[in-house]
Amino acid sequence: MANNAWFETVAEAQRRAQKTLPKSVYMALVAGSERGKTLEDNIDAYSEIGFAPHVANLAHARDLSVTVLGQELALPVMISPTGVQAVHPDGEVAIARAAAARGTAMGLSSFASKPVEEVVAANPATFFQLYWSGTRDQIMARVERAKRAGAVGIIVTLDWSFSNGRDWGSPSIPSAIDFKTMVKFAPEVARRPAWALRWARSGALPDLTAPNMALPGEPAPGFFDAYYEWMQTPLPTWDDLRWLRSQYDGKLMLKGVMRVDDARNAVDVGFDALSVSNHGGNNLDGTPASIRALPAVVDAVGSQVDVLLDGGIRRGSDVVKAVALGAKAVMIGRAYLWGLAANGQAGVENVLDILRSGIDSGLLGIGKSSVRDLTMDDVLVPDSFPRVLGVPGRAGTGSGVPGHKPVAV
Ligand SMILES: Cc1cc2nc3c(=O)[nH]c(=O)nc-3n(C[C@H](O)[C@H](O)[C@H](O)COP(=O)(O)O)c2cc1C
Repeated sequence: MANNAWFETVAEAQRRAQKTLPKSVYMALVAGSERGKTLEDNIDAYSEIGFAPHVANLAHARDLSVTVLGQELALPVMISPTGVQAVHPDGEVAIARAAAARGTAMGLSSFASKPVEEVVAANPATFFQLYWSGTRDQIMARVERAKRAGAVGIIVTLDWSFSNGRDWGSPSIPSAIDFKTMVKFAPEVARRPAWALRWARSGALPDLTAPNMALPGEPAPGFFDAYYEWMQTPLPTWDDLRWLRSQYDGKLMLKGVMRVDDARNAVDVGFDALSVSNHGGNNLDGTPASIRALPAVVDAVGSQVDVLLDGGIRRGSDVVKAVALGAKAVMIGRAYLWGLAANGQAGVENVLDILRSGIDSGLLGIGKSSVRDLTMDDVLVPDSFPRVLGVPGRAGTGSGVPGHKPVAV
């Protein structure tokens, strides 16, 4: 790749992703639901939090490393699981390699385009993400496969309400690539020759299957067949999750917690970690930014489990703010997807480098020598910054959505 393949911000990576990807693929990554209120708030909420930098007695050397679920990470940023269908032929393997090269862990989606075995080979610090789909036997078959492959833990994602509409329109996603589909998408693809060339060079077409949803001895189901199985599955109860905990002895994370009561239940069930998350604004629109829910959850369970956060992270300073508010680390979604679209593995490394350098600058300005020393006192959180689902005490009360009443739990 030419030298100018390097980009200096995640915003620039997003612009390049938009220029590189066919419109439908780009729109699938933008995602979001309904009005996009949550999607927006996930990003905007960070600009309400400020810094008051020092100018002398600053730390010459700064340590960004943290340990999450037993994994030593070079920086407090992990890869959040996403389905990377059709973005890049190397898909999640490229992301896993980039994460390994930058010393961090990978979350691999159930709906990923690459099998867990290939991804773990590229990055041994891989967590497999599970949706509650199929029978208990089917769920365990997928968990055991991930374990056999060497995955270091399971992320159970529960925040999904099967709400699909977007005011700006949902992309049309084909169920398979056949001749008819190729004709339909040809005009979009013709406008994106670099993307088409990338796939032509790989000798493959995006196959839109979900290899990690395959059951033993069966071929990978199509993306929509797998989605249908998930939609038809009775929704899990806390008892179901207790059962899963009893069957799996590895590290378990619950992803998608926004409420203090759910966080406490997750700890009672025996989860080792949770991610405060609203699925990147793709679940119920009107849910506040995940950063607004973080302090109350940390207050309630932060001393018992690793509390992570995902949603809206676009710069290193966002990471510093989240860690200062109590997150052990954050997970990123769209940021690395833009990087992958813009420049493959190197693009994902570029995004991690941008975040690393931003975290380092944040620490320098704040005058801390380690991310582990960050506290709430290192950031300015205005009184108007509401902490959702609050409990009395430090977390305060308030709703992240202006005009909504706080919910005490
Ligand atoms: C295109 C796309 C696909 C996603 N697929 C999954 C998934 O398969 N499993 C999952 O747990 N979360 C999934 N997520 C949510 C991400 O893991 C993460 O919670 C979210 O992207 C974080 O917000 P951010 O994109 O602002 O960083 C997806 C998000 C996007 C944007």
